[in-house]
Amino acid sequence: MRQKIVAGNWKMNLDLVEGEELLTNILDQERGKDVVTIVAPPYIHLSSAKRMLSHTNIGLAAQNCHNQTSGAYTGEVSVKMLKSVGVEYVILGHSERREYFKEDSLAISFKVNHVIENGLRPIYCCGETLTERKDGQHFEIIEKQLTEGLFQLNEIELLNCIIAYEPVWAIGTGETASPEQAQEVHAFIRKTIASQYNAITANSVSILYGGSVKPSNAVELFNCPDIDGGLIGGAALQAESFATLTKSF
Ligand code: PGA
Repeated sequence: MRQKIVAGNWKMNLDLVEGEELLTNILDQERGKDVVTIVAPPYIHLSSAKRMLSHTNIGLAAQNCHNQTSGAYTGEVSVKMLKSVGVEYVILGHSERREYFKEDSLAISFKVNHVIENGLRPIYCCGETLTERKDGQHFEIIEKQLTEGLFQLNEIELLNCIIAYEPVWAIGTGETASPEQAQEVHAFIRKTIASQYNAITANSVSILYGGSVKPSNAVELFNCPDIDGGLIGGAALQAESFATLTKSF
């Protein structure tokens, strides 16, 4: 079912005490009603975050996972482990994973499958670089990322995914896609899903925008017809701005 969603990606920020402080402050803030609010702290925060969030309606996401259940994969964390501490969502295919850790859409598709098999919900990121946008390749790139990373799923499985459009040139740069640019790509993503699956599926998936979203630009972005909320980096590290974003619909 299409939902309004605001998800905070903390990336590699905050130690455990700072993370607990941020969550305490978020819980003190008034948040938007009828909006699914999610936080994605680093792995080491997850189990204490779950305890703090247990009687709230804030969901918990991990920022990554491995595609195997267990084994000799030093440094990795499995979905089974994430599930055991109460994680419900996993961010996959973030451009920082694609760029710095060389994850391609095929590798990400294995993680997507594994997350779905375990009953968790992937937040699947896609988006073009600045060069790709300047070359007019953004639609092609996004279609490829969706086809290779997500469209191996059947319709029911796809409905359990959240998609995040994050133009790489807008992430952490202060430069946001205009509402028109973002809406155009979100509509394209829905059209692509409709031709692969059907119109009902396309209209039922939540598609988030990510890239320098902040309280000053969120309202016009989140009110575009095909934008269902945001995947937030920098502005998710401050309780007040994060809470404001959940009220920006
Ligand atoms: P930003 O990050 O809001 O700091 O641009 C968004 C993201 O990378 O998910």
